[in-house]
Amino acid sequence: MRKADVIIVGSGIAALQLAVHISRRLHVIVLTKSKMQQSNSFLAQGGVAAAIGENDHPASHFQDTIEAGRNVNDHEAVWKLTAEAPGIIQDLAFNNCQFDYDREGSLHLGKEGAHSHARIIHGGGDQTGRRIVDGLLEKLGSNIQIYEDESVYELLVQEDGTCYGVSSKSKNGNMHNIVAPHVVLATGGCGQLFSFTSNAQEVTGDGVALAYWAGARIKDMEFVQFHPTLLFHNGKTRGLVSEAVRGAGARLVDECGNHLMEGIHPFLDLAPRHVVAQTIFNSIQKGCQIYLDVTSITNFEQRFPTAAGLCAQNDVQGRIPVAPGCHFLMGGVETDHVGRTNVSGLYAIGEVACTGVHGANRLASNSLLEGLVYGRRLARYLSEQDPSLFFPKTPSLPTPQSPVCLKLPSKEEIQRTMMSRVGIVRNRDSLKEQLSWIESFELNKWMTADFRQLTKTQWETVAMLQTSWLITTAALERTESRGGHYRSDFPNENKEWEKKHLSKTLEKRTAHESVQA
Ligand code: SIN
Repeated sequence: MRKADVIIVGSGIAALQLAVHISRRLHVIVLTKSKMQQSNSFLAQGGVAAAIGENDHPASHFQDTIEAGRNVNDHEAVWKLTAEAPGIIQDLAFNNCQFDYDREGSLHLGKEGAHSHARIIHGGGDQTGRRIVDGLLEKLGSNIQIYEDESVYELLVQEDGTCYGVSSKSKNGNMHNIVAPHVVLATGGCGQLFSFTSNAQEVTGDGVALAYWAGARIKDMEFVQFHPTLLFHNGKTRGLVSEAVRGAGARLVDECGNHLMEGIHPFLDLAPRHVVAQTIFNSIQKGCQIYLDVTSITNFEQRFPTAAGLCAQNDVQGRIPVAPGCHFLMGGVETDHVGRTNVSGLYAIGEVACTGVHGANRLASNSLLEGLVYGRRLARYLSEQDPSLFFPKTPSLPTPQSPVCLKLPSKEEIQRTMMSRVGIVRNRDSLKEQLSWIESFELNKWMTADFRQLTKTQWETVAMLQTSWLITTAALERTESRGGHYRSDFPNENKEWEKKHLSKTLEKRTAHESVQA
């Protein structure tokens, strides 16, 4: 059995920010199921939003965030996030994070969809995530112990409901129990539930499933963001072309060169993401391919090296064929302003968390910001806790059960069915069909199964099905369209739903559903 003061599951920006800022007297174990640099954060092209421009103000960033989130947001959480943003940038820049500067020596500010000001701080053009991750990795202290290729299979929860550690499996199949009074999920979202996605291979909704099985409240799962512009080649999406490319003047056009967003939204190509994604999706459904025309951008290769590299790999130039794909989960594990969940000892930060800042649709470049803000806040909170807590009592550890035999689909089947039935456009029939398909795999049986007997692929499939079930049931229950949740049978926003959140908690292996006004 290993012991630590804090366990962090995941290796993205939220996880690293927490690890860098936490007190060095605390022994922290970081577990990642692949490598430290394999995360959505590392892939992130667009930057970090902060109101630091001359005529900008956090109040304007606040307004844009609420507008994009269709007012499902927690206003206090948004206000605190936007007010903290300039300080977060200052902190990173002071610590030599390699951001891009203009000729006058000021941080260069880009513009992205639904922002009323240019306020996106970026690095290496479209390599912002990599620059921040590398900068944070360099700053890790000797109190941080990293285990790569180690997957968490189960959160350890006491009789009284307190989380006290994790059961994990390393690449060679060895199981480990690690105990700590503080367990932090920073596992990212769930893009790999859908066949079209910008997300890293590893992002399979694990954290949401783990938290749900441990009794945490899971909230707002119907709100899934689809990014409008993924490079589309030979029937598959091949990676993200950043919104910053549209911010620099690229336009969405049809096969004849007609401007797609004309007459659709006053912000044209920089309209809110769900508006652009749904417009592209409708055109593709009608058999009309949509392209991102980048010919007006001078020095495209230098300004956007990641997107240019993607184009070169797929033998595309000038007009990039695009399709929308799953990009971000606005819902997740419900937390407070520092990342605490309703399960004592369990925390969630970054995309796996539902802090209330994103509402029904996340404003561009608010996700790296959220990870940085909540990572630092949780570090401060945990560093101030009573040190006597840091010595867990001898815990009772789970005893291995006999092997489980679960009937499971392939990951590809989950991705294909989620994309077609619970994707950009949903309706009652498609959602019901998906729900009965998911439930045909006898989820109830899993609740008594010892997951630690499963292979990594089987375990990920179970987590994918569980998270798919949470999204599908919430999408079925919300009988309106709002932000990232679009129902063709209820195509409009309904005022009555504006302040309602759907949440689910699993208690004693019985699902209790609740609607909070
Ligand atoms: C992008 O670069 O378009 C993505 C940025 C984000 O999702 O915030």
